[in-house]
Amino acid sequence: MATLSSAQASKKIEDLKKKIADADYKYYVLAEPDIDDYKYDLMMKELEALEKDFPQFKSDDSPTNRVSGEPTKSFKVVFHQAPMLSLANTYNEEELYEFDKRIKSILPGEKFEYVCELKFDGLAVSLIYENGKLKSGATRGDGEKGDDITQNIKTIRSIPLSTTHSKIKYFEARGEVFFRKEDFLKINEEQELKGEKTFANARNTAAGTLKQKDSKAVAERPLQFFAYYLRTDDVKLASHSDNLKLLKDLRLPVNDKWVKVSSIEEAKKYCDKIEETRDDLPYEIDGVVIKVNSLSQQDELGAVSKSPRWAVAYKFKAKQQITKIKSISLQVGRVGTVTPVANLEPVFLAGSTISRATLHNFDEIERKDIREGDYVKIEKGGDVIPKVVEVIKEKRPKGLPEFPHPTNCPVCNTHLEKPEGEVAYYCPNTACPAQVQGRIEHFVQRDAMEIEGLGFQIIEIFIGKGFISNYADIYDLHKRKKELLELERFGEKSITNILNGIEQSKEKPFDKVLFALGVRHIGERTAKILAKHFGSIDKLMNATQEEINEVHEIGPKISESVAKFFSDKHNLKLVERLRKAGLKFEIDKSITQKINPLFANKTFVLTGTLEKYKRDEAAKIIEDLGGKTSSSVSKKTDFVLAGSDAGSKLEKARALGVKVIDENEFEKMIG
Ligand code: IVH
Repeated sequence: MATLSSAQASKKIEDLKKKIADADYKYYVLAEPDIDDYKYDLMMKELEALEKDFPQFKSDDSPTNRVSGEPTKSFKVVFHQAPMLSLANTYNEEELYEFDKRIKSILPGEKFEYVCELKFDGLAVSLIYENGKLKSGATRGDGEKGDDITQNIKTIRSIPLSTTHSKIKYFEARGEVFFRKEDFLKINEEQELKGEKTFANARNTAAGTLKQKDSKAVAERPLQFFAYYLRTDDVKLASHSDNLKLLKDLRLPVNDKWVKVSSIEEAKKYCDKIEETRDDLPYEIDGVVIKVNSLSQQDELGAVSKSPRWAVAYKFKAKQQITKIKSISLQVGRVGTVTPVANLEPVFLAGSTISRATLHNFDEIERKDIREGDYVKIEKGGDVIPKVVEVIKEKRPKGLPEFPHPTNCPVCNTHLEKPEGEVAYYCPNTACPAQVQGRIEHFVQRDAMEIEGLGFQIIEIFIGKGFISNYADIYDLHKRKKELLELERFGEKSITNILNGIEQSKEKPFDKVLFALGVRHIGERTAKILAKHFGSIDKLMNATQEEINEVHEIGPKISESVAKFFSDKHNLKLVERLRKAGLKFEIDKSITQKINPLFANKTFVLTGTLEKYKRDEAAKIIEDLGGKTSSSVSKKTDFVLAGSDAGSKLEKARALGVKVIDENEFEKMIG
C-alpha cells in the first residue's frame, strides 16, 4: 500500500467510497444486493487502511465515518430553515371530505390532484445536503428547532452520505426514522436477555435510539428511514410527486406505496385498502397522509398555526384486543397521586405485548364498572399506554365484587386524601418511599436535569442503600465514591459515568432546574414561562400568589401550588442545597440581554444564496436576537433577507410591499 502515490491513493479512496455507496444503496434501499458480505468487508478494510495512511483524503462522507466519533455530551440545537409542521388529523370519511371542501373553497374553481402516502409511525427528521454531501441531520424538536443528531443519522445505512446530481447542490430532505416490526421485537428480546427494561413500542424505541449520546450504540440498531419531503431552490418542480421521484433519483429511500389520485373519493379508497392490509406491512403505520400535489397550490394554501392547509392525516382506528384483568394494583406517583393500574393477561396489540393498562382514577373504574377478573376491550391509540375501553359484561364471571376505593397508601399505609372537586386520591406523606423515588426519577429525567446513567433501577438501589433520600443528595454522591464502588454490579466506569453525568447536569438552565424541582402542576412549558418572567428563583419565591397569577397563561392552580411548595421548609432547604451545589437558579443574562429591538418579534424570510452566512446561521442569529423565521412570504412578513438568485419569494415580497434587505443591511441591523 505504501507504494501508492498520493494521487493514486486519492483516486483509489474515491473509487472505494463510490463502490461502497453503491453496495449500500443496492442492499439497504433497493434490497437487491449484488455483492457478498465478504467482498464488502474487504472494500471497507481497504478503505480504512488507505485512510489511515493518507489521512488527508479522509472526508466526512466516507462510509468509515458512519460509526465514529466520541459520544456527545449534549446535542447542539439547530434551527430549521423552515418550520417542521405537523399534520391536522381526520378520523373518518366526513372529516376527510371536509378537508377537500375546505381547500376547494379557498381556491374555488381549481382542480386538485392528491398524493396519498403511508403515515409511518416513527420520528420526523430533517437532513441537509450541501454540495452533494450529507451535512447535518436534526430531530423535529418543537418544529422550530431540534437536536443536531448528525452523527446518529449517519449510522442509518439507507441514508446516503453523498449524492451526485448535476443540478442540485443544496437540498433538505425530511422523512421518518423508524424500526421494522421484526427488528423492534429482536431489540426487546435482547433487552430481556440483558435483564434490561423492554420498550413499549417501536416508535419509542426509535426515539430513544436517535437520542443516544453514543452513535456506536445507535449503529448497533437497524434504524430505517423513508423520505417524504424535499425542499430545494436548485431546480423548479411543479409537484410533490415530482419531488418524490427526485428524492428517489437522489438515492434516498422513498416508500413506493404512494399513489397519485384525482379525487378525494379515490384517496379514501386508498386509505381503506391500506387500513385493511396494514398488518402485512413490515413496519408500523398509523394512517395515510393526503397531500395536494401541485406545489403552487400548496404555496397558495399555506399553513395555519402548526399545520399546512394542503395536507391532512387520515388516522386509522386504534387497534383493539380483548383480554382479562388478572388484578388491579395501585401506583403512587411523585406527587402522591394514587393511580389504579390493570394487570392483564398478556396480549399482542399493535406491535407489542401488553400486560398493563392504566385505569386513570377511581371515578373511571366506577363509570366503566371495571372489576378484577373482568374481560375487557383494550385499545392502543396514539399514546404508549393502552387503555381499557369497556368491560365485556357478557363474559363477566358470576359474583365478581366491585373494586373498592382505597383508604390507605399501598406503599406507606398513610390514610389517603381526596381533595374536594378532584377525582384522584393522594397520599399526603411526602416521605412516602414511592414519592421519594418518583421525585428523584422526575428530577433526573431527560427533559429535566438529564443525568445520564442514573436510571430508575439505580435510583432504587441508591435509595435502598441509604445513599440518597431526596434529589439534593444526588449532588453529594461524589463524596461516597468509595462506597459506590463497593456496590455489586457497578464498575469504576459506570460510577464515573454517573458522577460525570451529575456534574454536567449543573449546566442545565434555570427553567429546566425549576421543572426538575417537581412542583405540582409545573410542567416544562410553565417552568419556561415562570423562569422567563421572574428571572430567578429568589424573585419567584418572594412573589405573592397574586403576582404569579398575573403572569400570562398562569392560572390559580399553578400559583397556589408554587406558593405551597415554597412555603415548605423542607423544600426550601433542598433548594438551598442545590444552589450550593452550583445549580442555576437564575436565567442566563447573556442570552436575554441580547434581544435586539430591531429583531424582537419580527418575522424574517430568507431567500436566495447568502455570501457570508449559511441559511441556518442567519436563521439562528435572527432567533437569538428575538426574531422569527418563516418559509413563506405573506403580509405578516417584516423582512425578506435576499441573497443572490432569489426567486419567487423576492417577487412576492415586492408585490406585497414587504421590506427586502440584503446582507449588508442585515449586518447593520445586527450592529
Ligand atoms: S408530511 C407538512 N408525510 O407525521 C408536512 N409526515 O403528524 C408534514 N409522518 O411530523 C409531514 N409519515 O413525523 C408527512 N408520509 C408522511 C409521513 C409523515 C409520517 C409523520 C411526521 C410528521 C407527523 C405529523
